[in-house]
Amino acid sequence: MEMNQPIGQTPLDGRPDGLVGRPVDRIDGRLKVTGLAPYAYETQALRNPAYGFIVEARIARGGIRSIDTAAARLAPGVIHVMTHENVPAQGERREQVWPQLQGTEIRFFGQPVAFVVAETFEQARAAAALVAVQYDAQPPKASLKDALGEAYKPKPAQTDPDSQAGDFEGAFGAAPVQLDVTYTTPPQVHAQMEPHATIAAWDGDKVVLQTANQMLNRGQKSLAGLLGLPPENVRLVSRYIGGGFGSKLQVQPEGVLAVLAAKAIGRPVKVAMTRQQEFHCASHRTGTIQRVRLGADRDGRLSALAHESWSDATPGDQFFETSANVTRSLYAAPHRLTRHRIANLNVPVTSAMRAPGEAVGQLAFECAMDELAEQLGIDPIELRVRNEPAEDPEKKVPFTVRQLVPCMREGARLFGWDKRGDAGSRREGRFMLGMGMSAAARLNPLMPSAARVRLGPDGYLTVRMAMTDIGTGTYTILAQIAGEMMGLPVERIRVEIGDTAYPMAAGSGGSFGAGSAGSALYVACDNLRQALLKAGDLRPDDAVFADGAVRAGNRTVTLAELAGRDGMEAAGEIKPGSLKERYSHYSFGAHFAEVAVDADTGEVRLRRMLGVFTGGRILNAKTARSQAIGGMIFGVGAALMEDGVLDPRYGSFVNRDLAEYHVPAHADVPEIEAVFLPERDDKANPLKSKGLGELGICGAGAALANAVYNATCVRVRDYPLTLDKLLPGLEEREGRVQRRS
Ligand code: MOS
Repeated sequence: MEMNQPIGQTPLDGRPDGLVGRPVDRIDGRLKVTGLAPYAYETQALRNPAYGFIVEARIARGGIRSIDTAAARLAPGVIHVMTHENVPAQGERREQVWPQLQGTEIRFFGQPVAFVVAETFEQARAAAALVAVQYDAQPPKASLKDALGEAYKPKPAQTDPDSQAGDFEGAFGAAPVQLDVTYTTPPQVHAQMEPHATIAAWDGDKVVLQTANQMLNRGQKSLAGLLGLPPENVRLVSRYIGGGFGSKLQVQPEGVLAVLAAKAIGRPVKVAMTRQQEFHCASHRTGTIQRVRLGADRDGRLSALAHESWSDATPGDQFFETSANVTRSLYAAPHRLTRHRIANLNVPVTSAMRAPGEAVGQLAFECAMDELAEQLGIDPIELRVRNEPAEDPEKKVPFTVRQLVPCMREGARLFGWDKRGDAGSRREGRFMLGMGMSAAARLNPLMPSAARVRLGPDGYLTVRMAMTDIGTGTYTILAQIAGEMMGLPVERIRVEIGDTAYPMAAGSGGSFGAGSAGSALYVACDNLRQALLKAGDLRPDDAVFADGAVRAGNRTVTLAELAGRDGMEAAGEIKPGSLKERYSHYSFGAHFAEVAVDADTGEVRLRRMLGVFTGGRILNAKTARSQAIGGMIFGVGAALMEDGVLDPRYGSFVNRDLAEYHVPAHADVPEIEAVFLPERDDKANPLKSKGLGELGICGAGAALANAVYNATCVRVRDYPLTLDKLLPGLEEREGRVQRRS
């Protein structure tokens, strides 16, 4: 099926008792909580694997003068030491998959310079410390701020890095009310629970990777390209994945190194990154500098808006944070400009992380809107309502469904927005209280996906596709979709995913997983329904699939009977079509946060948080809520805590663990709720669903930052909003700047 037409009535409509949408418990939940779900590193490889350990560069820029592996090779248990001198041949970089141990040039701190393989993990790690590397070091370039002069326009990534309409400069200059502010966001790391891990095993010229990867088919293609093999010779298997957040969208260095070493020694090689290695050997989100300019009349109608973003990329790369992309679709204004620039720095590889673009873009833009509202004396919701566009302001096409205003209105009602006072007006003992809000918007893409279903003579349905579940609930929603389509309980659906041996699927990323993979499965089930009706000579007009049987006319036949002795199979696929260009596809929402700021210490505590979202048809109320609040919690982290501290002298992260790189814990998140408004998006996909995975993070941090301002009258434009940044403003405001001498 290609999405060229809006979807009419489907078997999923008009079944309020159906499985889809119900808060079904995760079908893989028991396996996970009992520790029986094997993650990549725990997969039992066939023949006894050797263990690999990565040796990282200790400089950020320069070259390897010499590398002495003699001591490492003689260390107990060591089988092989791989360096640039003996690494097997590799092709050019494919997408985000980089060849490893190529030459002597060092581009970033932590770049793998050797790979030690031994009988045990401990032996490999001990020997890795014996690899003696002499460097010719140069001072690294590691500060984005210092490199702005050489920033350039990167290659387009899906869309052009620049956009413009009308005459921004002219309109901004003429606007009676102007705002010109610059926000910065720090480098952030994915911090997924399961580190990158791969077990690679060759059989002739075919290789199988048990690995932790979000997009298996993409990984297969790029790795095959790098190795000079046909894609069918490379198989990726990822049955269970302990979080990805973007860092597993590509095969990371440990996967490439495992494959190369396994080839070299003719034995499977198993490797996992340590948490410390995650910060340098795996990718992270770039820091950004974002300038937002808004020009408006005194009623808050925007005449001009501009959003410019600078980010950094590792040498040789042009990946950039698309911070301003969402700004192109969010608010009306006749004169507009967006621009992205990058500078290459000697920093580890940057990549997509948790709503790449929108997440940090809205940290800046949604605060700028709050600043404008404050300047105008208009309620922030009202300001957004006044700039609600009738169509996508830059693409000039209608939105599929846009319920931003209902999300803001319903959120205001549920949250008690009317209790929000003027900035600095609410106090409770030594705490200053404040509320803030933000709009949320996240692109809703559809990606090609295929699925195969097989109804066995036992009446069980097996679903197969190379889809992944990174902890989001994919297994469960696929079972619900197939179950409702076929009239079977989830217990009679076997979901087999996580293997490139199965039909190609979108994988988990960009909030497209459920909609894309789920739609392919929907089509496969629809095809199976037709085949079953035909086999049973049943009339399709009034056929109802329920309770393991089909009722049509006055006949009822069980699915097992219809499947026959050999069972029955069907395939399905989904592709984006012309609706992709004819409409603007976004999921929307609104965030509300209340914070308490300690007037003496500047410490910010979240009191409560609410998100109201629209995501088309909700596939599982429980997993959708978990996705939404998970995203919101990331927003709490982005606003208050998460900070990859890069030492510009060395180009290295100094807080390389989850104690020092703090993501919100339970104590940081006292009360949080997510609500979904009813919606069907008939132009998105046959499920009429929209992406939710990353919607929750979009704008969430801005709601907190705006609440901090409302509490304190202090505007900090440098994330995260830690107390050291708030204190000077608080002191000034309280008129108790202390003499320091
Ligand atoms: Mo997401 S950053 O596409 O996993």
